[in-house]
Amino acid sequence: MKTTLSFSTPAELETECLVAITLDHAEPDQTGKDHGDSSTKENPQLKLAAGDTAVQSVAADLLTSGEMTGKPFEINLLHKPAGLKTKRLLLIGGGAAKKFTSYELRRIAGAAVRTLKSRGIRSFAFITPPSVPAEAAVRAIVEGAFVGNFDPDYYRSDRKDQKIDALTILASGNTDRAALEKAANEAQIVGESQNFARDLVNEPSNRMTPTILAERAQKMCQEVGLKCEIYGADKIKEMKMGAFWSVAQGSDEPPALIVMKYEPSGAPEKPVLGLVGKGITFDTGGISIKPADGMEKMKYDMAGGATMIGAMRAIALLKPKVKVIGIVCATENMPSGKAQKPGDVQIAMSGKSIEIINTDAEGRLVLADGLFYARQLGCTHLVDAATLTGAVVVALGYANAGIFANDDAMYERFHKANDEAGEKMWRLPLDDEYKENIKSGIADMVNSGGRWGGAINAAMFLKEFAEDTPWIHLDIAGTAWMEDQKPWIAKGPSGIALRSLVEFVKSFAS
Ligand code: BES
Ligand code: MN
Ligand code: ZN
Repeated sequence: MKTTLSFSTPAELETECLVAITLDHAEPDQTGKDHGDSSTKENPQLKLAAGDTAVQSVAADLLTSGEMTGKPFEINLLHKPAGLKTKRLLLIGGGAAKKFTSYELRRIAGAAVRTLKSRGIRSFAFITPPSVPAEAAVRAIVEGAFVGNFDPDYYRSDRKDQKIDALTILASGNTDRAALEKAANEAQIVGESQNFARDLVNEPSNRMTPTILAERAQKMCQEVGLKCEIYGADKIKEMKMGAFWSVAQGSDEPPALIVMKYEPSGAPEKPVLGLVGKGITFDTGGISIKPADGMEKMKYDMAGGATMIGAMRAIALLKPKVKVIGIVCATENMPSGKAQKPGDVQIAMSGKSIEIINTDAEGRLVLADGLFYARQLGCTHLVDAATLTGAVVVALGYANAGIFANDDAMYERFHKANDEAGEKMWRLPLDDEYKENIKSGIADMVNSGGRWGGAINAAMFLKEFAEDTPWIHLDIAGTAWMEDQKPWIAKGPSGIALRSLVEFVKSFAS
Protein backbone atom coordinates (compact mmCIF):
# COMPACT_ATOMS: atom_id res chain seq x y z
CA MET A 1 0.00 0.00 0.00
CA LYS A 2 1.38 3.33 -1.07
CA THR A 3 0.90 6.08 1.50
CA THR A 4 1.01 9.74 0.59
CA LEU A 5 0.67 12.82 2.73
CA SER A 6 -1.46 15.62 1.35
CA PHE A 7 -2.16 19.18 2.45
CA SER A 8 -5.00 19.70 -0.01
CA THR A 9 -8.39 20.98 1.00
CA PRO A 10 -10.50 17.82 1.48
CA ALA A 11 -13.34 19.23 -0.61
CA GLU A 12 -10.95 19.74 -3.54
CA LEU A 13 -9.40 16.28 -3.49
CA GLU A 14 -10.30 13.86 -6.26
CA THR A 15 -10.40 10.40 -4.74
CA GLU A 16 -12.45 7.20 -4.72
CA CYS A 17 -13.49 7.92 -1.17
CA LEU A 18 -12.97 10.56 1.45
CA VAL A 19 -13.09 9.26 5.03
CA ALA A 20 -14.06 11.45 7.99
CA ILE A 21 -14.55 10.49 11.62
CA THR A 22 -17.68 11.36 13.58
CA LEU A 23 -17.27 12.03 17.28
CA ASP A 24 -19.89 12.15 19.99
CA HIS A 25 -19.62 15.39 21.99
CA ALA A 26 -22.50 14.67 24.36
CA GLU A 27 -21.46 15.19 28.00
CA PRO A 28 -21.57 12.05 30.10
CA ASP A 29 -24.86 12.18 32.02
CA GLN A 30 -24.79 13.60 35.52
CA THR A 31 -27.08 11.00 37.11
CA GLY A 32 -24.12 9.24 38.61
CA LYS A 33 -24.92 6.06 36.74
CA ASP A 34 -21.91 4.62 35.02
CA HIS A 35 -22.95 3.07 31.76
CA GLY A 36 -19.41 1.98 31.10
CA ASP A 37 -19.40 3.25 27.55
CA SER A 38 -20.38 6.89 27.25
CA SER A 39 -20.69 6.54 23.49
CA THR A 40 -23.89 4.52 23.68
CA LYS A 41 -26.13 7.28 25.00
CA GLU A 42 -29.55 7.84 23.52
CA ASN A 43 -28.86 11.36 22.34
CA PRO A 44 -25.47 11.53 20.76
CA GLN A 45 -24.23 14.95 19.70
CA LEU A 46 -22.34 14.09 16.62
CA LYS A 47 -19.76 16.29 14.97
CA LEU A 48 -17.27 15.65 12.23
CA ALA A 49 -13.64 15.45 13.28
CA ALA A 50 -12.71 17.50 10.23
CA GLY A 51 -12.33 21.26 9.89
CA ASP A 52 -13.44 21.44 6.27
CA THR A 53 -16.74 23.34 6.06
CA ALA A 54 -17.77 21.85 2.70
CA VAL A 55 -17.44 18.32 4.13
CA GLN A 56 -19.26 19.39 7.26
CA SER A 57 -22.22 20.78 5.34
CA VAL A 58 -22.59 17.57 3.29
CA ALA A 59 -22.71 15.55 6.52
CA ALA A 60 -24.83 18.00 8.53
CA ASP A 61 -28.28 16.55 7.86
CA LEU A 62 -27.18 13.00 8.55
CA LEU A 63 -25.44 13.97 11.78
CA THR A 64 -28.52 15.71 13.18
CA SER A 65 -31.05 13.20 11.77
CA GLY A 66 -31.08 11.06 14.89
CA GLU A 67 -30.42 8.05 12.69
CA MET A 68 -26.91 7.56 14.00
CA THR A 69 -25.97 6.09 17.36
CA GLY A 70 -22.52 7.59 17.72
CA LYS A 71 -21.01 4.21 18.46
CA PRO A 72 -17.46 3.38 17.42
CA PHE A 73 -17.15 1.93 13.87
CA GLU A 74 -20.65 3.03 12.81
CA ILE A 75 -20.57 3.33 9.03
CA ASN A 76 -22.36 5.67 6.59
CA LEU A 77 -21.32 5.82 2.97
CA LEU A 78 -22.58 8.69 0.80
CA HIS A 79 -22.18 8.70 -2.98
CA LYS A 80 -21.51 11.80 -5.08
CA PRO A 81 -21.54 14.17 -2.10
CA ALA A 82 -22.59 17.63 -3.32
CA GLY A 83 -19.84 20.20 -3.52
CA LEU A 84 -17.00 17.71 -3.00
CA LYS A 85 -14.70 16.33 -5.69
CA THR A 86 -14.53 12.88 -4.10
CA LYS A 87 -16.69 10.07 -5.51
CA ARG A 88 -17.79 8.97 -2.04
CA LEU A 89 -17.77 10.16 1.54
CA LEU A 90 -17.42 7.58 4.30
CA LEU A 91 -18.40 8.68 7.79
CA ILE A 92 -17.04 6.37 10.43
CA GLY A 93 -17.91 6.50 14.11
CA GLY A 94 -15.09 7.27 16.53
CA GLY A 95 -17.17 7.05 19.72
CA ALA A 96 -16.97 9.60 22.51
CA ALA A 97 -14.93 12.70 21.65
CA LYS A 98 -13.56 12.84 25.21
CA LYS A 99 -12.12 9.34 24.98
CA PHE A 100 -10.78 9.63 21.47
CA THR A 101 -7.01 9.13 21.30
CA SER A 102 -4.52 7.69 18.83
CA TYR A 103 -5.47 4.24 20.20
CA GLU A 104 -9.02 4.61 18.86
CA LEU A 105 -7.77 6.36 15.72
CA ARG A 106 -5.53 3.41 14.82
CA ARG A 107 -8.52 1.07 14.95
CA ILE A 108 -10.79 3.45 13.06
CA ALA A 109 -8.21 3.65 10.26
CA GLY A 110 -8.08 -0.15 10.14
CA ALA A 111 -11.87 -0.31 10.06
CA ALA A 112 -12.00 2.22 7.20
CA VAL A 113 -9.60 0.04 5.20
CA ARG A 114 -11.62 -3.10 5.86
CA THR A 115 -14.93 -1.43 5.04
CA LEU A 116 -13.71 0.00 1.76
CA LYS A 117 -11.68 -2.93 0.50
CA SER A 118 -14.61 -5.28 1.00
CA ARG A 119 -16.52 -3.03 -1.41
CA GLY A 120 -13.81 -3.28 -4.04
CA ILE A 121 -12.45 0.22 -3.47
CA ARG A 122 -8.67 0.39 -3.90
CA SER A 123 -7.75 3.87 -2.78
CA PHE A 124 -9.02 6.51 -0.40
CA ALA A 125 -8.12 9.64 1.52
CA PHE A 126 -8.37 9.87 5.31
CA ILE A 127 -8.98 13.18 7.05
CA THR A 128 -6.74 13.49 10.11
CA PRO A 129 -8.84 14.37 13.16
CA PRO A 130 -7.61 17.68 14.60
CA SER A 131 -7.94 16.57 18.23
CA VAL A 132 -5.03 14.09 18.07
CA PRO A 133 -1.50 15.60 17.83
CA ALA A 134 -0.53 15.58 14.14
CA GLU A 135 2.48 13.26 14.21
CA ALA A 136 0.83 10.71 16.48
CA ALA A 137 -2.26 10.85 14.29
CA VAL A 138 -0.34 10.15 11.09
CA ARG A 139 1.45 7.26 12.75
CA ALA A 140 -1.77 5.76 14.07
CA ILE A 141 -3.59 6.09 10.76
CA VAL A 142 -0.79 4.47 8.75
CA GLU A 143 -0.17 1.65 11.25
CA GLY A 144 -3.88 0.98 11.61
CA ALA A 145 -4.39 0.98 7.85
CA PHE A 146 -1.65 -1.60 7.31
CA VAL A 147 -3.03 -3.82 10.05
CA GLY A 148 -6.51 -3.57 8.51
CA ASN A 149 -5.27 -4.31 5.01
CA PHE A 150 -4.01 -7.78 5.98
CA ASP A 151 -6.18 -10.84 5.29
CA PRO A 152 -4.98 -14.40 5.80
CA ASP A 153 -6.84 -15.85 2.81
CA TYR A 154 -3.79 -16.97 0.91
CA TYR A 155 -4.87 -20.59 0.51
CA ARG A 156 -8.42 -19.94 -0.63
CA SER A 157 -8.91 -20.45 -4.34
CA ASP A 158 -11.91 -18.12 -4.21
CA ARG A 159 -9.98 -15.36 -2.50
CA LYS A 160 -10.77 -11.90 -3.79
CA ASP A 161 -7.30 -10.37 -3.35
CA GLN A 162 -8.95 -7.21 -2.18
CA LYS A 163 -6.40 -4.80 -0.88
CA ILE A 164 -6.21 -1.06 -0.60
CA ASP A 165 -3.38 0.04 -2.93
CA ALA A 166 -3.13 3.68 -2.04
CA LEU A 167 -3.84 5.73 1.07
CA THR A 168 -3.75 9.52 1.17
CA ILE A 169 -3.55 11.13 4.58
CA LEU A 170 -5.00 14.61 4.67
CA ALA A 171 -3.05 16.57 7.25
CA SER A 172 -4.99 19.11 9.25
CA GLY A 173 -3.79 22.51 10.39
CA ASN A 174 -0.41 24.14 9.99
CA THR A 175 1.98 21.31 10.51
CA ASP A 176 5.62 20.48 9.91
CA ARG A 177 5.63 18.58 6.64
CA ALA A 178 9.02 16.89 7.16
CA ALA A 179 8.04 15.59 10.59
CA LEU A 180 4.80 14.18 9.25
CA GLU A 181 6.54 12.54 6.27
CA LYS A 182 8.94 10.90 8.70
CA ALA A 183 6.08 9.71 10.89
CA ALA A 184 4.29 8.24 7.88
CA ASN A 185 7.41 6.47 6.57
CA GLU A 186 8.27 5.01 9.95
CA ALA A 187 4.71 3.87 10.53
CA GLN A 188 4.72 2.15 7.15
CA ILE A 189 7.86 0.22 8.10
CA VAL A 190 6.25 -0.85 11.38
CA GLY A 191 2.95 -1.78 9.73
CA GLU A 192 4.66 -3.81 7.02
CA SER A 193 6.85 -5.57 9.57
CA GLN A 194 3.82 -6.44 11.67
CA ASN A 195 2.15 -7.95 8.61
CA PHE A 196 5.36 -9.80 7.75
CA ALA A 197 5.26 -11.40 11.20
CA ARG A 198 1.55 -12.20 10.77
CA ASP A 199 2.29 -13.94 7.48
CA LEU A 200 4.82 -16.19 9.21
CA VAL A 201 2.35 -17.04 11.99
CA ASN A 202 -0.46 -17.76 9.57
CA GLU A 203 1.43 -20.53 7.79
CA PRO A 204 0.50 -24.04 8.90
CA SER A 205 3.22 -26.19 10.40
CA ASN A 206 3.77 -28.26 7.26
CA ARG A 207 4.65 -25.04 5.46
CA MET A 208 6.45 -23.37 8.34
CA THR A 209 8.92 -25.86 9.74
CA PRO A 210 11.84 -24.61 11.86
CA THR A 211 13.99 -24.84 8.72
CA ILE A 212 11.58 -22.73 6.69
CA LEU A 213 11.22 -20.19 9.48
CA ALA A 214 15.02 -19.89 9.57
CA GLU A 215 15.15 -19.45 5.79
CA ARG A 216 12.51 -16.73 5.93
CA ALA A 217 14.46 -14.96 8.69
CA GLN A 218 17.68 -15.27 6.72
CA LYS A 219 16.11 -13.87 3.55
CA MET A 220 14.65 -10.95 5.47
CA CYS A 221 18.04 -10.27 7.10
CA GLN A 222 19.74 -10.20 3.70
CA GLU A 223 17.15 -7.76 2.38
CA VAL A 224 17.51 -5.27 5.22
CA GLY A 225 21.24 -5.72 5.93
CA LEU A 226 21.22 -7.68 9.19
CA LYS A 227 23.73 -10.34 10.19
CA CYS A 228 22.02 -13.69 10.49
CA GLU A 229 23.33 -17.01 11.77
CA ILE A 230 21.36 -20.24 11.75
CA TYR A 231 22.44 -23.14 13.93
CA GLY A 232 21.19 -26.72 13.65
CA ALA A 233 21.00 -29.73 15.96
CA ASP A 234 24.77 -30.31 16.10
CA LYS A 235 25.55 -26.81 17.27
CA ILE A 236 22.63 -26.81 19.72
CA LYS A 237 24.02 -29.99 21.31
CA GLU A 238 27.61 -28.72 21.16
CA MET A 239 26.59 -25.53 22.99
CA LYS A 240 24.96 -27.77 25.63
CA MET A 241 21.52 -26.28 25.14
CA GLY A 242 20.03 -29.27 26.93
CA ALA A 243 16.65 -27.63 27.57
CA PHE A 244 16.15 -26.56 23.95
CA TRP A 245 17.39 -29.92 22.68
CA SER A 246 15.10 -31.87 25.03
CA VAL A 247 12.15 -30.51 23.05
CA ALA A 248 13.80 -30.80 19.64
CA GLN A 249 14.95 -34.42 20.14
CA GLY A 250 11.42 -35.76 19.69
CA SER A 251 10.88 -34.39 16.21
CA ASP A 252 12.03 -35.55 12.77
CA GLU A 253 12.11 -31.92 11.69
CA PRO A 254 15.52 -30.42 12.50
CA PRO A 255 15.45 -27.50 14.97
CA ALA A 256 16.90 -24.09 14.19
CA LEU A 257 18.49 -21.51 16.43
CA ILE A 258 18.08 -18.21 14.61
CA VAL A 259 20.39 -15.35 15.62
CA MET A 260 19.91 -11.93 14.02
CA LYS A 261 22.27 -9.07 14.85
CA TYR A 262 21.72 -5.36 14.43
CA GLU A 263 24.95 -3.49 15.21
CA PRO A 264 24.70 0.01 13.74
CA SER A 265 27.86 2.06 13.43
CA GLY A 266 27.92 4.81 15.99
CA ALA A 267 25.90 2.84 18.54
CA PRO A 268 27.38 2.75 22.04
CA GLU A 269 28.91 -0.55 23.29
CA LYS A 270 26.04 -0.82 25.76
CA PRO A 271 23.18 -1.40 26.08
CA VAL A 272 22.76 -4.53 23.98
CA LEU A 273 19.10 -5.47 23.78
CA GLY A 274 18.19 -9.14 23.44
CA LEU A 275 14.86 -10.11 21.89
CA VAL A 276 14.16 -13.80 22.45
CA GLY A 277 11.21 -15.54 20.81
CA LYS A 278 9.50 -18.90 21.29
CA GLY A 279 9.48 -20.59 17.91
CA ILE A 280 7.49 -23.82 18.38
CA THR A 281 6.25 -24.36 14.82
CA PHE A 282 3.82 -26.96 16.14
CA ASP A 283 3.00 -27.92 19.71
CA THR A 284 1.38 -31.34 20.05
CA GLY A 285 2.30 -31.35 23.73
CA GLY A 286 4.81 -34.16 23.16
CA ILE A 287 4.30 -37.32 25.24
CA SER A 288 2.01 -35.26 27.52
CA ILE A 289 -0.07 -34.95 24.38
CA LYS A 290 -2.78 -32.33 23.96
CA PRO A 291 -6.42 -33.25 23.28
CA ALA A 292 -7.30 -33.35 19.57
CA ASP A 293 -9.96 -30.68 19.95
CA GLY A 294 -8.43 -27.37 18.88
CA MET A 295 -4.93 -28.76 18.45
CA GLU A 296 -4.76 -27.30 14.93
CA LYS A 297 -4.33 -23.90 16.52
CA MET A 298 -0.94 -24.88 17.86
CA LYS A 299 0.61 -23.83 14.56
CA TYR A 300 0.70 -20.34 16.06
CA ASP A 301 3.00 -21.43 18.86
CA MET A 302 5.84 -19.71 17.01
CA ALA A 303 4.16 -16.29 17.19
CA GLY A 304 6.68 -14.98 19.73
CA GLY A 305 9.52 -15.96 17.40
CA ALA A 306 7.79 -14.44 14.36
CA THR A 307 7.28 -11.22 16.32
CA MET A 308 11.00 -11.02 17.04
CA ILE A 309 11.87 -11.63 13.38
CA GLY A 310 9.40 -8.93 12.33
CA ALA A 311 10.69 -6.55 15.01
CA MET A 312 14.28 -7.04 13.79
CA ARG A 313 13.11 -6.13 10.29
CA ALA A 314 11.52 -2.92 11.52
CA ILE A 315 14.57 -2.06 13.64
CA ALA A 316 16.97 -2.61 10.74
CA LEU A 317 14.94 -0.23 8.57
CA LEU A 318 14.30 2.41 11.25
CA LYS A 319 18.00 2.43 12.23
CA PRO A 320 17.94 3.48 15.91
CA LYS A 321 21.45 3.84 17.33
CA VAL A 322 21.34 0.91 19.72
CA LYS A 323 22.56 -2.67 19.42
CA VAL A 324 19.92 -5.37 19.24
CA ILE A 325 20.21 -9.15 18.99
CA GLY A 326 17.20 -11.24 18.01
CA ILE A 327 17.14 -14.92 18.97
CA VAL A 328 14.49 -17.46 17.99
CA CYS A 329 14.51 -21.03 19.29
CA ALA A 330 12.60 -22.93 16.63
CA THR A 331 11.50 -26.56 16.88
CA GLU A 332 8.43 -28.75 16.83
CA ASN A 333 7.17 -30.37 20.03
CA MET A 334 6.33 -33.96 19.01
CA PRO A 335 5.71 -37.32 20.63
CA SER A 336 7.94 -40.06 19.21
CA GLY A 337 10.26 -42.85 20.22
CA LYS A 338 12.96 -40.21 20.65
CA ALA A 339 10.84 -37.76 22.58
CA GLN A 340 11.58 -36.80 26.18
CA LYS A 341 9.32 -38.26 28.83
CA PRO A 342 7.83 -36.97 32.07
CA GLY A 343 10.36 -37.55 34.84
CA ASP A 344 13.38 -36.99 32.61
CA VAL A 345 16.02 -34.61 33.94
CA GLN A 346 17.60 -32.14 31.54
CA ILE A 347 20.59 -29.87 32.05
CA ALA A 348 20.11 -26.41 30.58
CA MET A 349 22.92 -24.43 28.97
CA SER A 350 23.33 -22.44 32.19
CA GLY A 351 24.05 -25.69 34.06
CA LYS A 352 20.74 -25.70 35.97
CA SER A 353 18.91 -29.02 36.10
CA ILE A 354 15.23 -29.38 35.19
CA GLU A 355 12.87 -32.21 36.03
CA ILE A 356 10.34 -32.58 33.23
CA ILE A 357 6.88 -32.98 34.75
CA ASN A 358 4.91 -32.17 31.63
CA THR A 359 6.40 -32.27 28.14
CA ASP A 360 3.72 -29.78 27.08
CA ALA A 361 5.49 -27.09 29.10
CA GLU A 362 8.06 -26.89 26.30
CA GLY A 363 8.12 -23.18 25.57
CA ARG A 364 9.88 -22.33 28.81
CA LEU A 365 12.48 -25.01 28.03
CA VAL A 366 13.52 -23.55 24.69
CA LEU A 367 13.40 -20.01 26.12
CA ALA A 368 15.57 -21.00 29.10
CA ASP A 369 18.46 -21.65 26.74
CA GLY A 370 17.54 -18.75 24.45
CA LEU A 371 17.65 -16.28 27.36
CA PHE A 372 20.89 -17.69 28.74
CA TYR A 373 22.50 -17.63 25.31
CA ALA A 374 21.44 -13.99 24.82
CA ARG A 375 23.25 -13.11 28.04
CA GLN A 376 26.33 -14.97 26.84
CA LEU A 377 26.27 -12.92 23.67
CA GLY A 378 26.47 -9.81 25.86
CA CYS A 379 22.86 -8.71 26.06
CA THR A 380 22.36 -6.26 28.92
CA HIS A 381 18.55 -6.17 28.69
CA LEU A 382 16.22 -9.00 27.71
CA VAL A 383 12.69 -9.21 26.36
CA ASP A 384 11.06 -12.50 25.48
CA ALA A 385 7.73 -13.07 23.76
CA ALA A 386 5.96 -16.40 23.81
CA THR A 387 2.58 -18.06 23.46
CA LEU A 388 3.54 -19.63 26.74
CA THR A 389 0.49 -20.62 28.77
CA GLY A 390 -3.20 -21.33 28.52
CA ALA A 391 -3.30 -19.92 32.06
CA VAL A 392 -2.62 -16.38 30.84
CA VAL A 393 -5.75 -16.66 28.69
CA VAL A 394 -7.73 -17.71 31.78
CA ALA A 395 -6.31 -14.75 33.70
CA LEU A 396 -6.51 -11.97 31.12
CA GLY A 397 -8.65 -13.25 28.27
CA TYR A 398 -8.03 -11.98 24.77
CA ALA A 399 -7.75 -8.24 25.47
CA ASN A 400 -4.47 -7.97 27.35
CA ALA A 401 -1.17 -9.77 26.97
CA GLY A 402 0.55 -10.76 30.21
CA ILE A 403 3.70 -8.84 31.05
CA PHE A 404 6.23 -9.83 33.71
CA ALA A 405 9.39 -8.04 34.77
CA ASN A 406 12.22 -8.64 37.23
CA ASP A 407 13.04 -4.92 37.17
CA ASP A 408 10.64 -2.01 37.75
CA ALA A 409 12.52 0.50 35.59
CA MET A 410 12.44 -1.95 32.72
CA TYR A 411 8.71 -2.46 33.28
CA GLU A 412 8.02 1.30 33.27
CA ARG A 413 9.94 1.71 30.05
CA PHE A 414 8.06 -1.12 28.38
CA HIS A 415 4.73 0.11 29.67
CA LYS A 416 5.36 3.47 28.06
CA ALA A 417 6.17 1.69 24.81
CA ASN A 418 2.84 -0.22 25.10
CA ASP A 419 0.98 3.06 25.39
CA GLU A 420 2.67 4.61 22.40
CA ALA A 421 2.16 1.48 20.35
CA GLY A 422 -1.50 1.11 21.31
CA GLU A 423 -1.05 -2.43 22.63
CA LYS A 424 -2.62 -3.58 25.88
CA MET A 425 -0.58 -5.55 28.38
CA TRP A 426 -1.24 -6.17 32.04
CA ARG A 427 1.48 -6.80 34.61
CA LEU A 428 1.37 -10.00 36.63
CA PRO A 429 3.48 -10.62 39.74
CA LEU A 430 6.70 -12.55 40.26
CA ASP A 431 6.86 -12.76 44.06
CA ASP A 432 9.29 -15.16 45.68
CA GLU A 433 6.35 -17.12 47.15
CA TYR A 434 5.68 -18.59 43.73
CA LYS A 435 9.12 -20.12 43.61
CA GLU A 436 7.78 -22.91 45.80
CA ASN A 437 5.68 -24.02 42.85
CA ILE A 438 8.65 -24.91 40.69
CA LYS A 439 10.67 -26.81 43.32
CA SER A 440 11.72 -30.31 42.35
CA GLY A 441 12.53 -33.32 44.54
CA ILE A 442 15.49 -34.31 42.40
CA ALA A 443 16.56 -31.31 40.30
CA ASP A 444 16.92 -27.52 40.57
CA MET A 445 13.38 -27.00 39.33
CA VAL A 446 10.42 -28.62 37.62
CA ASN A 447 9.16 -27.40 34.26
CA SER A 448 5.51 -27.31 35.34
CA GLY A 449 4.26 -25.72 38.52
CA GLY A 450 0.74 -27.04 38.24
CA ARG A 451 -2.51 -25.34 37.48
CA TRP A 452 -2.83 -22.44 39.90
CA GLY A 453 -1.03 -19.34 38.78
CA GLY A 454 0.15 -21.20 35.70
CA ALA A 455 1.27 -18.11 33.78
CA ILE A 456 3.22 -16.92 36.81
CA ASN A 457 4.84 -20.32 37.39
CA ALA A 458 6.05 -20.30 33.79
CA ALA A 459 7.46 -16.81 34.23
CA MET A 460 9.14 -17.83 37.51
CA PHE A 461 10.85 -20.61 35.59
CA LEU A 462 12.15 -18.18 32.95
CA LYS A 463 13.32 -15.79 35.67
CA GLU A 464 15.80 -18.46 36.77
CA PHE A 465 17.53 -18.04 33.41
CA ALA A 466 17.32 -14.25 33.08
CA GLU A 467 18.94 -14.11 36.56
CA ASP A 468 20.08 -10.57 37.34
CA THR A 469 19.75 -9.19 33.82
CA PRO A 470 16.83 -6.74 33.52
CA TRP A 471 14.17 -8.76 31.77
CA ILE A 472 10.61 -8.54 30.44
CA HIS A 473 8.50 -11.58 29.62
CA LEU A 474 5.45 -11.24 27.38
CA ASP A 475 2.93 -14.09 27.47
CA ILE A 476 0.97 -13.58 24.25
CA ALA A 477 -0.97 -16.88 24.21
CA GLY A 478 -4.33 -15.05 24.36
CA THR A 479 -3.48 -12.13 22.10
CA ALA A 480 -1.38 -13.50 19.22
CA TRP A 481 -4.42 -14.95 17.47
CA MET A 482 -7.73 -13.15 16.87
CA GLU A 483 -10.48 -15.68 17.53
CA ASP A 484 -12.97 -13.56 15.59
CA GLN A 485 -12.63 -10.80 13.10
CA LYS A 486 -13.03 -7.26 14.41
CA PRO A 487 -13.92 -4.14 12.44
CA TRP A 488 -10.22 -3.17 12.35
CA ILE A 489 -8.51 -6.56 12.01
CA ALA A 490 -9.05 -9.94 10.37
CA LYS A 491 -9.49 -13.19 12.23
CA GLY A 492 -6.13 -14.91 12.61
CA PRO A 493 -2.62 -13.77 13.56
CA SER A 494 -2.54 -10.34 15.23
CA GLY A 495 1.14 -9.43 15.25
CA ILE A 496 0.82 -8.41 18.93
CA ALA A 497 3.91 -7.03 20.71
CA LEU A 498 5.83 -6.03 17.59
CA ARG A 499 4.93 -2.36 17.80
CA SER A 500 5.69 -2.21 21.53
CA LEU A 501 9.03 -3.91 20.97
CA VAL A 502 9.98 -1.39 18.31
CA GLU A 503 8.98 1.55 20.56
CA PHE A 504 10.89 -0.03 23.43
CA VAL A 505 14.05 -0.38 21.33
CA LYS A 506 13.71 3.20 20.04
CA SER A 507 13.48 4.45 23.63
CA PHE A 508 17.11 3.41 24.17
CA ALA A 509 18.30 5.38 21.18
CA SER A 510 17.13 8.85 22.18
N1 BES B 1 1.71 -23.42 23.61
C1 BES B 1 1.10 -23.74 24.84
C2 BES B 1 0.32 -22.59 25.46
C3 BES B 1 -0.88 -22.07 24.68
C4 BES B 1 -2.15 -22.44 25.07
C5 BES B 1 -0.72 -21.20 23.64
C6 BES B 1 -3.24 -21.94 24.39
C7 BES B 1 -1.82 -20.71 22.97
C8 BES B 1 -3.08 -21.08 23.36
C9 BES B 1 2.15 -24.18 25.85
O1 BES B 1 3.26 -24.80 25.33
C10 BES B 1 1.51 -25.14 26.78
O2 BES B 1 1.13 -26.18 26.34
N2 BES B 1 1.40 -24.76 28.05
C11 BES B 1 0.80 -25.61 29.03
C12 BES B 1 1.66 -25.60 30.25
C13 BES B 1 1.29 -26.60 31.28
C14 BES B 1 1.54 -28.00 30.76
C15 BES B 1 2.09 -26.35 32.52
C16 BES B 1 -0.59 -25.06 29.31
O3 BES B 1 -0.77 -23.83 29.31
O4 BES B 1 -1.50 -25.85 29.49
MN1 MN C 1 2.96 -26.89 25.09
ZN1 ZN D 1 3.69 -24.36 23.38
